[in-house]
Amino acid sequence: MTDMAHLGLYGLGTMGSALSLNILDNGFALHVANRTAEVTADFAKEAGALATRLTTHASLADMAKSMPRPRAIILMVPAGRPVEEAIDDLCDLLEPGDTIIDAGNTDFHDTRRRTAKVEGRGLTFIGMGVSGGEEGARNGPSIMVGGTPEAWAGIRPMIHAISAKFNGEPCADHLGPDGAGHFVKTVHNGIEYADMQMISETYGMMRYGQGMDPAMIGARFEAWDQGVLKSYLVEITGKVLQAVDRETGGPAVDVILDRAGQKGTGRWTLIEALRLGQSASSIEAAVAARSWSSEKDTRVAGEAILGGTRGAVSLDDQDYADALLAARIIAYAQGFRLLAAASEEYNWSLDFARIAEIWRAGCIIRSALLDDISAAFRGEMPLGQLIFAPAFADRLKTTLPALRRVVAAAALGGHPVPALASALSFVDTFAMARGTTDLIQAQRDFFGMHGFERIGGASGQHGPWWD
Ligand SMILES: NC(=O)c1ccc[n+]([C@@H]2O[C@H](COP(=O)([O-])OP(=O)(O)OC[C@H]3O[C@@H](n4cnc5c(N)ncnc54)[C@H](OP(=O)(O)O)[C@@H]3O)[C@@H](O)[C@H]2O)c1
Repeated sequence: MTDMAHLGLYGLGTMGSALSLNILDNGFALHVANRTAEVTADFAKEAGALATRLTTHASLADMAKSMPRPRAIILMVPAGRPVEEAIDDLCDLLEPGDTIIDAGNTDFHDTRRRTAKVEGRGLTFIGMGVSGGEEGARNGPSIMVGGTPEAWAGIRPMIHAISAKFNGEPCADHLGPDGAGHFVKTVHNGIEYADMQMISETYGMMRYGQGMDPAMIGARFEAWDQGVLKSYLVEITGKVLQAVDRETGGPAVDVILDRAGQKGTGRWTLIEALRLGQSASSIEAAVAARSWSSEKDTRVAGEAILGGTRGAVSLDDQDYADALLAARIIAYAQGFRLLAAASEEYNWSLDFARIAEIWRAGCIIRSALLDDISAAFRGEMPLGQLIFAPAFADRLKTTLPALRRVVAAAALGGHPVPALASALSFVDTFAMARGTTDLIQAQRDFFGMHGFERIGGASGQHGPWWD
């Protein structure tokens, strides 16, 4: 593909319509189509003055057929069958020199398979993660691109133009071949799950343990957003908790059913972590917490049977802020460990500092910490572990006591904090040279003759269990 490719976008839902307006706003001409044709007509009206650069089509096939060559068609439809069907259709309609860009949240294994399939037909395929929700897509998202360097060169000017900027630098880059962009986006979402869960656990302690009302807690989050915890998620938490429900006049958060949804990226992160022999425990805890939350009836029955009560907690505001910072560092560290493992497994040569940089603006996990994370990856980092980088090791040393106080108070008071607790156990495990899996090895040898490695000796040894 060359810089001159004509752009098309299929799927004018929340993200597709916002991204289309962004593309038009940046001076690019755009062809659009949508499964339901009325949506396309409505979109043309919404585009207003920008519609002068817009060409609408009745269907994907009509769009592909009538676009001048070379064509680059962005898909913004749900992962799975909708993407697969659109790609199959396009494979029959496009010609060598044309490009298909899957810009939705796709499982990177599908992207790897589709890259081989589409490129086998002589077309170019790009798997592109886009983060920032509707607002980001409209005004500048963070964009993670996977594909060949040539494919990237063809879309780079447009992607750089529409992406978020941090100190004038585009928060978009080519991260590696085939599934690399979608995988980095998946892990981004995994970290997002963990951060959201840790924030909500902190809210739970302050609300039900300290007896603070949502507006008071929201004000604390608003204040924290001025310091080291500065981030989009802390900022919106402050706003959400201070919002008032129009109907009841009470806190808006109180009228919301406590049952969280998920679309799959958190789960994909975990599945891949396990495949790679890793564990991103804070992300696992966040996915589990959402699953448990969906069992509302079981929880209602559980409260009656097991008598769950939440005891009083008395901690300083600073304890919560420090605990959240420590846990957030650990969640990022676990996400980057997973990226490192995948990079090695799939030969992606991911640039971790660059990934941290393109997450600094536009995306949901943007936070002040990411600037320091990119600096840490460019500096000294023993064993490539973020928690060992001097700046982060120092921060952990000062904030871990607070995380211990929060997790301990939660345990004693009966407040569930799965993500905070698992983050603490992770760092405690890696802060100790000798653990307790000597006993696991002994047990395995006892019941299964699995053998163990003797310290300073050979492997395949057996214990004296049957002497
Ligand atoms: N929402 C977010 O914050 C966000 C953020 C980052 C990434 N994403 C990803 O972006 C992609 C789009 O999400 P969205 O939030 O924009 O979804 P959405 O608002 O639900 O829109 C879905 C779009 O896909 C079309 N579509 C649905 N099923 C289809 C099918 N079987 N065949 C063809 N078209 C179909 C819909 O067309 P109709 O009008 O005909 O229904 C609509 O245009 C997803 O992969 C999502 O995970 C979303």
